[in-house]
Amino acid sequence: MSSKAIGIFDSGVGGISVWKEIRNQLPYESTIYLSDSKHAPYGPKEQKAIIDLSIKNTQWLIDHGCKMIVVACNTATTNAIDQLRIKFSVPFIGIEPAIKPAALQSKTKKIGVLATEGTLSSNLFHKASELYLNDLYLVEQVGDGIVELIEQGKLYSNEMRNLLIKYLKPMIKAKIDCLVLGCTHYHFLKPILQELLPKYISVIDSPEAVAKRTKSVLQQCKLSNNKVLKGESQFYTNGDQAVIADLLESKNVTLKKIEF
Ligand code: DGL
Repeated sequence: MSSKAIGIFDSGVGGISVWKEIRNQLPYESTIYLSDSKHAPYGPKEQKAIIDLSIKNTQWLIDHGCKMIVVACNTATTNAIDQLRIKFSVPFIGIEPAIKPAALQSKTKKIGVLATEGTLSSNLFHKASELYLNDLYLVEQVGDGIVELIEQGKLYSNEMRNLLIKYLKPMIKAKIDCLVLGCTHYHFLKPILQELLPKYISVIDSPEAVAKRTKSVLQQCKLSNNKVLKGESQFYTNGDQAVIADLLESKNVTLKKIEF
């Protein structure tokens, strides 16, 4: 049993979608969230750079006393989690595009995947999606520019709407009936996607599954917090605090700016 915090990192504010689910499912656990907004987006970077940034983020969280790490970034998971597991001894949970649930749900067997270039070009993504490719047609789309707009606090902007219209058009034309959001930032697009997509297209992402997995790994590793006090949530960013504060919609957290 351990009252230490769960460490969560992302290239920016996207992983807050994962933190929210962890908070819901594990209210007695403390969390430390590290937002590396200064180096966002990770998506267009070389794999080596993504690995180096992921190691730096993990080291920071471990130095701040975390008992396990949730990689709340599809790009970092698909490019760096193997290296992180080799380098550090704490348990890791990663997030990946939810191809399996979409494959099970899809009737047209045509699925859209919106993700970063780093995720779509990774070996891990190829291996995971190959398992379903006999039976499934994937329409992959790199979401260039989306992370940048969210990091600038321009979620509900015309620029965002226009980008999404452009990215969704080929998917709708190809008759997808499921859209997988393969980047944690994209979770925050859901209200806009609801407006832009025909009703028969389901939007699927993974924060809930990641929180469920976090819970079960904590139990397996005997790392759950047995104190019945509510967990504390701390947020650290090397970017704009106002953008995080907006997405958090909560006053019961600590939010600090760091040089990192
Ligand atoms: N939230 C990250 C992900 O899930 C965004 C990647 C980026 O910074 O490009 O992939």
